[in-house]
Amino acid sequence: MNKQHLTIINHPLVQHKLTIMRKKEVSTAGFRRLLREISLLLAYEVTRELELTTTTIETPICEMQAPTLEGKKLALISILRAGNGLLDGILELIPGARVGFVGLYRDPETLQPVEYYCKVPNALDARMTIVVDPMLATGNSSVAAIDKLKEHGAKNLRFLCLLAAPEGVERMRQAHPDVPVFTAALDERLDDHGYIVPGLGDAGDRMFGTK
Ligand code: URA
Repeated sequence: MNKQHLTIINHPLVQHKLTIMRKKEVSTAGFRRLLREISLLLAYEVTRELELTTTTIETPICEMQAPTLEGKKLALISILRAGNGLLDGILELIPGARVGFVGLYRDPETLQPVEYYCKVPNALDARMTIVVDPMLATGNSSVAAIDKLKEHGAKNLRFLCLLAAPEGVERMRQAHPDVPVFTAALDERLDDHGYIVPGLGDAGDRMFGTK
């Protein structure tokens, strides 16, 4: 594989906002606002390699060949439920994107992800497909979601998260070496409950105000 598998988006604004999001005293509203802001910056990086073509336009001065995105609209796939927090911000930047959802829960006996919902855009084989989930922890749900998207034909995939654990990155690298992972930070490890350390807690609870 030529493409870099892991990209850490270390833009100063991303790092500053992430530090605030990690703080336990940040309110639900504050967390949500920061997540929306940070997702715009992350989206900018993850779409850096979108293909361009040219189109003829007329400015008030003259005709020109101007760059424009090539091919079909990209697909954003949110892994429910926490993925929706990243999705909302990215859609502000790329309002024409097609959107899909994959819902997975963890079977309490086998601890393996079980799908309960899947609805994805058509023609995934012709779209850049960006899978979003703020926390890449064990990697089990990300791997299962990407398995599913490949069954639906997706070929040009990226995985975008806010925080990653080394365990999750390795799991993704083993299962899907062709899918580059973009994250704002690579944390130390997982704890015994599968939480990222130092992390930011449960991303879904923090963005939706649940416990
Ligand atoms: N999911 C979360 O929301 N937080 C973690 O730390 C790990 C998985």
